[in-house]
Amino acid sequence: MFSRIVRPSLVAARNFSTTKQNNFKVAVCGASGGIGQPLSLLLKINPLVSELSLYDIVHTPGVAADLSHIETAAKVKGFNGAENIKDALRNADVIIIPAGVPRKPGMTRDDLFNMNAGIVKALAEAAAEVAPNALIGIITNPVNSAVPIACEVLKKAGKLDPKRVFGVSTLDAVRANTFVAEAKGLNPKDVNVTVIGGHSGITIIPLLSRVTPAVTFPEDQLKALTVRIQEAGTEVVKAKAGAGSATLSMAFAGARFANSLLRGLKGEPNVIEPSYVISDVTEAPTSPHPSCWARKASRRTWGWAN
Ligand code: NAD
Ligand code: LMR
Repeated sequence: MFSRIVRPSLVAARNFSTTKQNNFKVAVCGASGGIGQPLSLLLKINPLVSELSLYDIVHTPGVAADLSHIETAAKVKGFNGAENIKDALRNADVIIIPAGVPRKPGMTRDDLFNMNAGIVKALAEAAAEVAPNALIGIITNPVNSAVPIACEVLKKAGKLDPKRVFGVSTLDAVRANTFVAEAKGLNPKDVNVTVIGGHSGITIIPLLSRVTPAVTFPEDQLKALTVRIQEAGTEVVKAKAGAGSATLSMAFAGARFANSLLRGLKGEPNVIEPSYVISDVTEAPTSPHPSCWARKASRRTWGWAN
């Protein structure tokens, strides 16, 4: 069962061991892409990152050389091609995966399944072997299916710790904060909308009745706002007119998510970040077969996990 959870403390909720460490190895898979490059830039300027490992099947030498000239402490290494995947991921503390094909107008995220499932599978297999303790954040779509695939791969390898695998749904919360702030004339940085569920259409559930600071909307505006948040990815896909989907806002969201993981790892309490994870909010059984996971995950299975 997969749902998006929000907990008062990421550390307590996810329950992975924490340290006073503040120098972490972060690997980005798909680092040369539309998301991968700006995400890697934002990670390069994150003071908690001491080693930034950039993996892709193309162009990583150039991206790594470029980023390595930035005057921050993180050491950048580029790894190009499948034969280097294990060196890229070895002993990573955090692995962020934006590898894979984005949507074009007219496509659903599920249409990406056939192209992206194998990519996520291969990355999870390598992670299981060389970075079994890493926290893995999956950006690749369809997130609702990619996360179960990664979990099944890790389970098969005997390395699944459900508390370490996350679907990165942060962009939905980033958008919700922005749109609510616009509607109410607030500064987005003061607005916090919790978004639960999955990362696709109606599985994206913004809790507009629980916004901080408290706001209210007439029924028609509430409906329109909810739909806009749910369809914001499609809004960008249409606007880019065949040139891909959200990249810059996703890089921002991915960097925020990675930073929350690092803050949790270093022992900071009360780190809150919504994410799409395995949970037991209902008694529905889980299935070992990826396609069953995918179907189950695409049902309306959101909720507050304990
Ligand atoms: P992109 O095509 O610009 O970049 C993808 C990168 O992945 C490319 O550099 C490509 O070479 C690389 N890649 C392909 N196969 C690979 C493999 N086997 N191993 C490693 N790298 C590989 O695409 P993008 O715009 O960066 O989007 C990437 C993915 O993120 C898409 O699936 C998109 O739908 C998804 N996405 C998710 C969210 C979210 O909210 N979770 C938001 C935006 C985009
Ligand atoms: C998004 O929400 O922007 C991403 O999931 C990309 C997409 O295909 O919409």
